[in-house]
Amino acid sequence: MNKHCATIAICLAIAMPAVAAENHGGDVVYTKPVKSVLFSHKLHVEEKGLSCDMCHARTFDMQALKAQENADFTMKSLVEGKYCGACHNGTMAFASNTRCAACHTGVKGGGPPRGGKH
Ligand code: HEC
Ligand code: HEC
Ligand code: HEC
Repeated sequence: MNKHCATIAICLAIAMPAVAAENHGGDVVYTKPVKSVLFSHKLHVEEKGLSCDMCHARTFDMQALKAQENADFTMKSLVEGKYCGACHNGTMAFASNTRCAACHTGVKGGGPPRGGKH
């Protein structure tokens, strides 16, 4: 315990903003194959309480936009349980083939992008 802190509450108030910003990877917005899928560390770590290992042991590297370099970073893989689909399977979290606009944030209300090159 830091003896310069008068109470735990004050210590936390001083320490929290810096810790929150440094302790996880922030927002990641994917641009490939389609634009605007948002992944939020704040939601998954701070609000849902998931530990780093749940994603960083083997599903994702600690490097933003690394996954989208892989040709199989697609809905087919997600539905097969890879990447986000390791949890977004309808059991642990809402399924990858539902609620398109929850992940595809750039197209809220309008559904996911259509057509294109796939
Ligand atoms: C629910 C899954 C999940 C959890 C839990 C999670 N991360 Fe991440 N993290 C990701 C994803 C997805 C990426 C982006 C990887 C990619 O795009 O290939 C990422 C990227 C990162 C990056 C790189 C950011 C950048 O700008 O390059 C850091 C650092 C990171 N995470 C740290 C953490 C730490 C520390 C924790 C625990 C406090 C944590 N993450 C928990 C999914 C998660
Ligand atoms: C380790 C498990 C895990 C992984 C991996 C994971 N998520 Fe999640 N995610 C959750 C849980 C748990 C919730 C909260 C429960 C729910 O909403 O069904 C959640 C909630 C969300 C929400 C909130 C939707 C809302 O508004 O209610 C979005 C968006 C989301 N995840 C996107 C992603 C994306 C994109 C990826 C991959 C880059 C990803 N998640 C990977 C576990 C995970
Ligand atoms: C759990 C989050 C999540 C949900 C839910 C989700 N997607 Fe995706 N989607 C992704 C991620 C991650 C990618 C790959 C990164 C990118 O293209 O930005 C992707 C890519 C895509 C692509 C381009 C790659 C491909 O597979 O052809 C299309 C099209 C797509 N999604 C459509 C949809 C539709 C339609 C729905 C709803 C039925 C949906 N998505 C629901 C996360 C999600």
